[in-house]
Parts: sequence; structure tokens; C-alpha cells
Amino acid sequence: MTGPEENVWSGWNEPLTCRERLCAALGELSPFGRCRLRFYRWAGMKIGRGVTLGRGVAVACYPRKITLEDCVEIQPQVYFLARDEIRVGRNTAISPFVKILTSSNPNARHNALGGIFPPVRKPVTIRENCWIGTGAILLPGVTVGPMSVVAAGAVVTRDVPERCVAAGVPARTIRRI
Ligand SMILES: CC(C)(COP(=O)(O)OP(=O)(O)OC[C@H]1O[C@@H](n2cnc3c(N)ncnc32)[C@H](O)[C@@H]1OP(=O)(O)O)[C@@H](O)C(=O)NCCC(=O)NCCS
Repeated sequence: MTGPEENVWSGWNEPLTCRERLCAALGELSPFGRCRLRFYRWAGMKIGRGVTLGRGVAVACYPRKITLEDCVEIQPQVYFLARDEIRVGRNTAISPFVKILTSSNPNARHNALGGIFPPVRKPVTIRENCWIGTGAILLPGVTVGPMSVVAAGAVVTRDVPERCVAAGVPARTIRRI
């Protein structure tokens, strides 16, 4: 395989150490906020000062690819698919059951749809002072601009400009702030 698709696959399955696996599992399961922060730090997540991590926050792939800047609030049951970098800017709030995805691939090495929907792996950035509403899904490659809101249940397929409210499936700007 040559071309851009080859780049997508290179590093797709980077190894995870036992420490990373174990600490991420304990971070997800711990009932104590301070323990969650400690376990996820030990798993390689970069966590600033004053960050809170809710119960059941789950990371698939690589905690080391996640950066949470100061005073970020991650509420319960948020799911990070961190095959590529995820950066959450300072003071941002992520509501329960949000999903942040950096890759997609329908079992492409075997599934015939793999030829139609090639594998994707792209970073996701959420800038400072944002609010991501409950149940929102952020797809690979998107950036949410500073001080913007993603409404509950939105599916973000494109960048959200700064100081906007984006809502719906697919998410569209419904107003400026
Ligand atoms: C986006 C949000 C902040 C409201 O923003 P707002 O600008 O005050 O919006 P309004 O309530 O005035 O509604 C404006 C329009 O957007 C629509 N709208 C509001 N929320 C929406 C949503 N989640 N999805 C789709 N449309 C939505 C309204 O129906 C309204 O449409 P209309 O003008 O056709 O009647 C709010 O709806 C939301 O999603 N909050 C997140 C709540 C949450 O996740 N809480 C978890 C704990 S923090």
C-alpha cells in the first residue's frame, strides 16, 4: 500500500505498555476523583491544574495522546477514542456521555466497506472556554473554536468557529455569542 492511506496505518496500532493499560482501566473504574486523575496521569494523559474527571471516563487507545489544559471539567461517562491527539483547552466543560473520536475504520482490513470508507485518523481540538453538551459526538479532525458551545446531541462533522453555538445532526451554527 502506498500514498496517504499508508500514513494512516503507520502507527495505527502503537504498542501500549502494561502500565498504560492497567492505569487507564483503573482510572475508568475508580470511584474517587483524585485517584482517577492520578491513574490517568500514570497512564500518560497530560492533565493540567484544577482538572476534574468524572466517573467512568473511558479512553480507548492511547491516554498519552490526550492533553487536558488547566481547569478543564470532564463529566461522567465521556469517551475518548484517542488514536490521534486530543487537546481540550483551559476552562472547557465536557458534559456527560460526550464521545470524542479521532479515528474510524470499519474493520477495513477484512470488511468490504473498507475499500469505500478508507481509514481515517485525525486529531481533535477543543479550544478554551468551550461547553460541549451532553451526548454530542465529535468526529475525527474537527476543531471547536474558543468560547463556543456544541449543543446537546449534536454531531460535529466540521470545524465550529469561535463564539458560536452549533447544534443538530450534522451540527450547524445556530447563533453567535
Ligand atoms: C445549546 C443550548 C446551550 C441552548 O442554547 P440557546 O442559544 O440558549 O438556545 P435556545 O434554547 O434559545 O434555542 C435556540 C434554538 O436552538 C434549538 N436548540 C436548542 N438546543 C438544541 C439542541 N441541543 N439541538 C438542536 N437544537 C437545539 C431550539 O429548539 C431553538 O430552535 P428554534 O429557534 O427553532 O425554536 C442548550 O440547548 C444545550 O444544548 N445545552 C446543553 C445542556 C447539557 O448538555 N447539559 C449537561 C450538563 S452541563
